[in-house]
Amino acid sequence: MNFFSANLNKILAGKSLGQPGLETLLGARGEQIRDLFAAANRVRRSGVRDAVHLRAIIEYSNYCRKNCLYCGLRRDNKTLPRYRLALADILDAAGRAASLGYRTVVLQSGEDPYYSAADIARLVEQIKDRQDLAVTLSLGEYSRETYRTWREAGADRYLLKQETSDPVLFKYLKPDGSLQNRLQCLHWLKELGYQTGSGNMVGLPGQTSATLAGDIALMRELDVEMAGIGPFLPHQDTPLRSAAPGKLETTLVTLAVARLCLPRAHLPATTSLGTLTPEGYKLALGCGANVIMPNLTPAEVRHKYMIYPQKADIRDDPVKAKKNIEMLLASLARPLAADYGHAPECCRRDTLAGAPTN
Ligand code: 5AD
Ligand code: SF4
Repeated sequence: MNFFSANLNKILAGKSLGQPGLETLLGARGEQIRDLFAAANRVRRSGVRDAVHLRAIIEYSNYCRKNCLYCGLRRDNKTLPRYRLALADILDAAGRAASLGYRTVVLQSGEDPYYSAADIARLVEQIKDRQDLAVTLSLGEYSRETYRTWREAGADRYLLKQETSDPVLFKYLKPDGSLQNRLQCLHWLKELGYQTGSGNMVGLPGQTSATLAGDIALMRELDVEMAGIGPFLPHQDTPLRSAAPGKLETTLVTLAVARLCLPRAHLPATTSLGTLTPEGYKLALGCGANVIMPNLTPAEVRHKYMIYPQKADIRDDPVKAKKNIEMLLASLARPLAADYGHAPECCRRDTLAGAPTN
């Protein structure tokens, strides 16, 4: 048996792969890719079943105090018109999400200290009071105390992508912070009882397949309940404007290997993948993904949340977008989840050792 099949069988038997094994899977070519995607699809089915969870995302501010090299919201991007939604408008958007049948809202923004910890806590409380919604926050790096305040206000989940597991690449791409601090934040979030999400970008300049293997190993080590894996897309108003975008195949292969390592995690078909190619969501759902995140940001400001160009969801009308998703899922024979889509009690592959994978 060749190296690739040996590693695939090993992981399917519930064993954990080290760095060389992960790199072998990430190097899949030709028929190996087909086998890898089929395996990821089976593991997705046994780990989280067929239903696809929808998370309505509300991008309420595009101000950011940070200067990440890849991101259009970086503070030095003076060409971007900035906006902040009033708390009442964020509440309205959450109400809209609930009335369209969503069971989760994701509140996302640049790192914008304009809103105090107490403001966000009040917002979370009011959403939970008025709507039957799970609340996910995706607001960046804050203190343990702030995360605690928001958790006590009722926030269920938190997304904080590691972006890359390479500390040197991290420092280059995110000069305001460090991988160490990011990991500290992720540990606090877990400790505080958030369902915690990480994730990475595929195709970052300077990234190798060893980096990607490290990224997946880190997500497994963090025991994340969610992981967003999408291609890097260059933005014209950032220092990385001339870098090449992440490749579709590499992104899907990374997603598939992540699914093998995190059988019970919620893995979205990311908007960036949907931006790279119109087939992105469908392809991702076929090799491990089980979540879609439709955009419920009010139309007047949505085009200003330009983390990368031509964002797939920029013009989606919320009603039409929901219909399109329903049509896509029907064509794939994947039901729409009706529950909140909380993380299963335990997400780790090792707890599933011996569980059937088909
Ligand atoms: N390409 C792809 N994804 C990006 N993000 C930010 N900038 C880019 C880009 N240029 C992603 C990061 C971040 C999320 C808000 O958007 O992963 O966590
Ligand atoms: Fe700000 Fe996040 Fe963009 Fe960095 S990636 S500039 S922290 S919005």
